[in-house]
Amino acid sequence: MESAHHTVQPPVQQRIDEHDLDYTHDPARVLHNFIVRAQRPFNAEPTLPLLVSDYITPSDVFFKRNHGPIPDIQLEHHQVFIGVQKDDASGLVEWKSLSMHDIMTKWPKATITASLQCAGNRRDGLAKVKEVKGVIWGAGTISNAVWSGPRLCDILKDIANVPEDLLHDMIRTFHVSFEANDHVKEDICYGSSIPLRKAMDPLGDVILAYEMNGQPLTRDHGFPLRVIVPGYIGARSVKFLQNILVQPQESSSFFQRRDYKILPPWIDSSNVESAWDTASSLGEMNVQCVICTPAEHEVVKSKAVTVKGYAISGGGRAIYRVELSLDGGRTWEAVDKIEQTPDPKSGMYWAWAIWEKKVAKINASSELVVRAYDSSGNIQPEIPIWNYRGVMNNSIHRVANVIQMPQPSM
Ligand code: MTE
Repeated sequence: MESAHHTVQPPVQQRIDEHDLDYTHDPARVLHNFIVRAQRPFNAEPTLPLLVSDYITPSDVFFKRNHGPIPDIQLEHHQVFIGVQKDDASGLVEWKSLSMHDIMTKWPKATITASLQCAGNRRDGLAKVKEVKGVIWGAGTISNAVWSGPRLCDILKDIANVPEDLLHDMIRTFHVSFEANDHVKEDICYGSSIPLRKAMDPLGDVILAYEMNGQPLTRDHGFPLRVIVPGYIGARSVKFLQNILVQPQESSSFFQRRDYKILPPWIDSSNVESAWDTASSLGEMNVQCVICTPAEHEVVKSKAVTVKGYAISGGGRAIYRVELSLDGGRTWEAVDKIEQTPDPKSGMYWAWAIWEKKVAKINASSELVVRAYDSSGNIQPEIPIWNYRGVMNNSIHRVANVIQMPQPSM
C-alpha cells in the first residue's frame, strides 16, 4: 500500500458566518416524498407509510439531515487525509492522503445493510412535554440502505499503522475523528468521532461508503464518501468525508461536545452552557419501535386493518419481540411478522425490523400502542423522558383515533 499515499497537510478550513452560507448549489430533490422540516439547511423526513413500504429505502425516500449547504465535490479532485496524533505534549500529526481512486480500488469492497437513525427522531414527542432545542422531527428520521466501500479498520491498519490487536492500549483509549468538506453554522465544518475500538473491531462493520443501494452516493447523502457507523446514532456517520484523525481524545467538534447528548432533566436553556461537559456523547442507539400505518385520525375503509411499522436497536442487537395493544396498553399481543436480516458475515443486526399485524377490528375510542424488546431485554419507557436537546426519544408509540368504516355485510 506504500505507493497509495504521500505525506501532506489537509487544507485549512475557515469558518463561514451563518448568513454567508451559500445554499444556491444544493441538489434538486423529489419533494413530494417528504415532510420538509427546514429548507436551509435541508432537513426532511419521508411520510411514515412510504417509509415502511420497502425494507431497503430508496435514496429519494431516505431522510435527509444537514447542518449546512451540500458541498459540490469533484470525485477526481477529492483527497481524504488520514493521520495519527501523538499522545504527548507535542500533539503532532503525521498526515497521509488518499485519492478516491485509491479508496475505491486498493482495499476489498465490503457491503453492509444498515439503518441510520437521527438521535432527534421523534423529538416532537419531547417538545410536547417542554421546550426543546433542535429541528422538530416526527418519527421518520430513520431509513435503511445498503452501503458499500472499504472497511475503516483495513485502511487504518495499512495507512496509519493502527495495531490490529484489539487488546492493545491504544485501541482501548483512542478515538477516530472525522471531518467533512462542508461548512455549517455551528462550527467550521461538520465533525464527529467514534471510539477507536469500534472502528478497529472487524465485527463493528464501520466502512467508508462510496455507494448507497448499488449507486454512487447522492450529494444529499454524502458524495463522494461518507462513514457508516452501524448501530450508532446517525450523527456519527459523517458525510462528505475529508479528514480522518486517530487521536487520544474525542473530536472537539461542536457535534461531539455541544450537541447529541442526553442532558439531565434539570438542564434547560438557562443553565445548559455549564452542563455539556458533564454528559457523555451518544454512541449506540437505544431500542425503538414505531407504528407507521395507520396514522392518527386515519379513516380506514378495509375490513381488516394492517398495522405496520419499524423497530431497531443499537450495537447490532436484534429485535426480539414486538407487541401491539389495541386497548391503550391494557392487553398486548405479538405481531404476526417481523422481518429483520442480520449481516451475513458479522451476524450483527445493523438493519431495522419491519413488522406487521392484521387486525380485524379497531374501536374508534381505543388507542393502538406498540413496544419492542431487543435481544438484551432492553425495553422502551412508557412515557417520554424529556431532555433539553430532545434526543433519543424511544417511549412506547401510541396512535389514537383510527376510524374503521363499517363494512357492508355480504
Ligand atoms: N455529515 C455532514 N458532513 N454534515 C451533516 O450535517 N449530519 C449527520 C450525519 N452526517 C451531517 C453529517 C446527522 S445528524 C445524521 S442523522 C446523518 O448524517 C444523516 O444522514 P442522511 O442525511 O444521509 O440521512
